Amino acid sequence: MENTEELFHGDIVTPDREKGLRVLEQHYVTVCDGTIREITPVLPESYKGREVTELGRDVLIPAFSDLHIHAPQYTERGRGMDCLLFDWLSKYTFPEESKFSDISYARVIYAQMLRDLLRHGTLHASFFTTLHYEATGLLFRMLEESGMQAFCGITNMDRNTTDEYVDTTEVSLQKTERFIREFGQLSGGTVSTSAKVKPILTPRFAPTCSGELLEGLGKLGEKYGIGMQTHLVESKEEAAWSKELFPDCGSDGEIYEKYHLLENGPTIFAHVIYPTDVEKRILRERKAVSVHCPDATTSVTAGIMPFKEMKKEGFRLSLGSDIGAGHLPAVYRQAGRAVQLSKMKEFYEGTDCRITFAEAFAAATMGGAEVFSKTGRLEAGYRFDALVIGGLEDEGSSLTPEERVERFCYLGDDRNIRHRFLDGKHIDPDEVYQRLLENSRQAEGMPK
Ligand code: GUN
Ligand code: FE
Repeated sequence: MENTEELFHGDIVTPDREKGLRVLEQHYVTVCDGTIREITPVLPESYKGREVTELGRDVLIPAFSDLHIHAPQYTERGRGMDCLLFDWLSKYTFPEESKFSDISYARVIYAQMLRDLLRHGTLHASFFTTLHYEATGLLFRMLEESGMQAFCGITNMDRNTTDEYVDTTEVSLQKTERFIREFGQLSGGTVSTSAKVKPILTPRFAPTCSGELLEGLGKLGEKYGIGMQTHLVESKEEAAWSKELFPDCGSDGEIYEKYHLLENGPTIFAHVIYPTDVEKRILRERKAVSVHCPDATTSVTAGIMPFKEMKKEGFRLSLGSDIGAGHLPAVYRQAGRAVQLSKMKEFYEGTDCRITFAEAFAAATMGGAEVFSKTGRLEAGYRFDALVIGGLEDEGSSLTPEERVERFCYLGDDRNIRHRFLDGKHIDPDEVYQRLLENSRQAEGMPK
């Protein structure tokens, strides 16, 4: 097969572990078979005379990773946002998620959600679904077709929900194992680590899972070599309830440790607003990734992750939209919100909480990408998963490349994303949407 090669020239902004942001003005990027070969200030000799895509005032940035999305909550965006967590779950979320027993409904909602994530430049993500096997399988197949890198888990709950939307322990475990076996591309008995879309264990949170269920999930994790995502110390009430339900565990984090759910990785913890020393020890030892979801935690759980403190302590940090407790499928907006919330935290607590835009941008790209393969930054050897953003300057006034990226994260939207590249290929979210709908209809033998 012939190699595909592409050449870009313009301003590049990418996260950097030391400097926060690396700005490469007027550089050349060479891409070969979907991987970045080189980024240089001068045109490489071998590319002389080749066609160049000139970026002009646009900026090339890495695509975003959103590590906390509840796919079935897409229709909940901007509803019940004056509730607190438990009310919101029972009044809005459980009834909404119950609808995914209807596969035709699931198809339409999941296809739109994926289209909108792609529109907003989220090309890697981790999804919670519902208790429903068919609908979760449908999302898994759609993710595979979309080309995204993703984790996708069937949600486990065997108590403290509604009578209509709950599984028995046995059924929840059976569905999970069947899901792993059907979708996990097993090789040698364990789930393939090279697949782009992978199953992940998804106990919703400790209050909706019995010890027996968590124990069974821990065994499945070990058997198939897969990690776990859940919510951790998300609100004071949640942390207290978890301890009450698991009296032999001193804190939320210890519950997952007790049932051996942290041993295979990745471990993805959403929110982490009230980490105790035990949670911190666990985050450190298990190299877990914590997902800051600013909109969601101000809307339904009333708390702010101690991002700065966790950053100083060297924890792995990322950002999430937490659709639908969060209302925007645009994880870059969470970067701006993370900075704002860190200032609010500093204002009210009087301690050092303020984070930089560079730190927040790094969490939305490189931070989340740590659970995926070779993506989240623009560097030689990484996948060319990238966005071209533009239209961010005012007439008669110019911004530096870094300022253009910051403005995009505060007030940009999908119209400012001019191109999206996934594994080096240009993608059109609307075309992907049509394809997902059509293929899933055909798979079910439905008319177009
Ligand atoms: N805790 C348990 N379930 C949920 C959920 O669906 N969303 C959020 N934000 N927190 C939860
Ligand atoms: Fe959540």
